[in-house]
Amino acid sequence: MKAVLSFALAAVAAIFFMVGRTTAQNSAMHQQTLDNLSTAMHGEAFAYAKYNLYAQHARQSGNKKLADLFAKTARVERFQHFAEEAQLANLVGTDADNLRDAIQGESYEINTMYPNFAKQAAAVGDKAAADRFEEIRRDEMIHRDAYKAALKALESQHGEN
Ligand SMILES: [Fe+2]
Ligand SMILES: [Fe+2]
Repeated sequence: MKAVLSFALAAVAAIFFMVGRTTAQNSAMHQQTLDNLSTAMHGEAFAYAKYNLYAQHARQSGNKKLADLFAKTARVERFQHFAEEAQLANLVGTDADNLRDAIQGESYEINTMYPNFAKQAAAVGDKAAADRFEEIRRDEMIHRDAYKAALKALESQHGEN
């Protein structure tokens, strides 16, 4: 029963993390469209990061033309596709809103995602992955705490929001 409940909570947290603040601020847009925007943004952001690694590899293997193609395409994914979708989804709010959203995302990784990933990797003997998940989880704590401090400073500056 407890396991079922914690799974349900994790599932809700995961969905909230994926969709983020886009749910609350876009009551005019259909939920399916918001979900699709969230999925598309994750894909575009991943393509940006991946193509930059591919560009780095091509550069290191002496293929400058291919490196330029990957780098140029990466910029379109990030600065056109992702940016346009982020605008449609109202991804960016006030500084305080953005900090709260960032704290929520980091907290999800710290409390749910990385502990589960580390546990699952350890259980099947993928020790390098388990160790990496745990190490990254500790980095996320630094991010969360820095965001919390920034939010506190912002709130004491402005009273609220
Ligand atoms: Fe794209
Ligand atoms: Fe982080």
